[in-house]
Amino acid sequence: MKILALSGSAREASTNTALLRAVSEIAPHSIEIDVFHQLNLLPVFSPDNEGDKTPVVVQNFIEAVAAVDGVIISSPEYIRAIPGGLKNAIDWLVSRIEIIDKPIVLVHASSRGDDMLDSLRRVLTTVSANFFEHLFLRISLIGKTPEEIAVLMHSPEYESQITAFLLSFAEEINKCKEDD
Ligand SMILES: Cc1cc2nc3c(=O)[nH]c(=O)nc-3n(C[C@H](O)[C@H](O)[C@H](O)COP(=O)(O)O)c2cc1C
Repeated sequence: MKILALSGSAREASTNTALLRAVSEIAPHSIEIDVFHQLNLLPVFSPDNEGDKTPVVVQNFIEAVAAVDGVIISSPEYIRAIPGGLKNAIDWLVSRIEIIDKPIVLVHASSRGDDMLDSLRRVLTTVSANFFEHLFLRISLIGKTPEEIAVLMHSPEYESQITAFLLSFAEEINKCKEDD
């Protein structure tokens, strides 16, 4: 099973990216997770640049989404909202078939950011028929370095939380495949 883990933060020392990296390392062998943390490289969406005019970097991103069985998103809150880079990436996907039935779940690296989470849940419910809101992994990591996060997440308590979360997501993905 292949999963794409999208970070809403392009920051080098991002706690959300570090959490996704830990999730990818802890994943059982049956689940392969690629972390993508460069949504800042996508140009600003315009409907005029869809179809034949889709920029190569966007096309590559869309193909990465198409190639996986599911997507995990972890994002900070910026000004009580979804960071522009993440919303822009979703805007590029919205008219595409690749996103319509894509299984999606959220993780979150902060105890704050509920306005962003509410909005992102609304957006994901709109773009995908398989956004699993009931699966949510939240671990407060604000102020921690990526190195500290890597060590902390490999503790038995977090490893088992992350593994259980991933297995539940894999179960939902398998149910979607059975329904196809
Ligand atoms: C431009 C900007 C705006 C922010 N706005 C909010 C906000 O409205 N509410 C909040 O709780 N945190 C806000 N923050 C803090 C980030 O959400 C928080 O530090 C987050 O954990 C950073 O995630 P990262 O480590 O993955 O980059 C903001 C940070 C930045 C850079």
